Amino acid sequence: MSGSEWGRLDLLKTGVSIKETQTLYQKWACSYNKDCELLGYSGPARVAQRVADLFPVDVRDNVNILDVGAGTGLVAVELKKLGFKNLDALEPSEPMLLEAKKDNLYNNYYQEFLTESPTTLSGDTYDVITGSGIYGEGAHVPCKALYEMIRLVKPGGYIILAARHEVVKI
Ligand SMILES: C[S@@+](CC[C@H](N)C(=O)[O-])C[C@H]1O[C@@H](n2cnc3c(N)ncnc32)[C@H](O)[C@@H]1O
Repeated sequence: MSGSEWGRLDLLKTGVSIKETQTLYQKWACSYNKDCELLGYSGPARVAQRVADLFPVDVRDNVNILDVGAGTGLVAVELKKLGFKNLDALEPSEPMLLEAKKDNLYNNYYQEFLTESPTTLSGDTYDVITGSGIYGEGAHVPCKALYEMIRLVKPGGYIILAARHEVVKI
């Protein structure tokens, strides 16, 4: 671990508000990718590989994917390496989204929170919904947001999420 920003994760504890969590990402956006690299964060690559396992190379051009809690776009980077091109981002933090926009990683950028309530996006739209690191301490995606993911994904589509064991409480 390295970088002063990474230490900010200490701020992510139960009871931390949405505002405090978003302030963290606002300050972290510019060094987030480097910190993830130093940490060896593997969630985005794992999610992308699970998507690739479901679709042969020759159909990947046509697969519509929504990446929730997209952040700076690390999941998109990995999906693009595997041939996926139709990617949209849903992410509440403008500074995080700006990092993704710099690299032109997604077709559409929706600056919104995912909760149990409907987003502005149309239902039955996506073949796949991805999310890496979207559950965690602090105020991240609530478990009940799964209902909204189910609304957004096409019937028979897939929702592929990666989270650390510690933050998934069953
Ligand atoms: C640890 S980052 C993960 C970013 C990216 N998926 C990755 O793997 O690098 C968590 C992201 O979730 C976003 N987030 C927090 N609450 C959210 C919510 N309710 N809906 C959607 N995204 C949210 C944060 O703004 C942050 O960018």
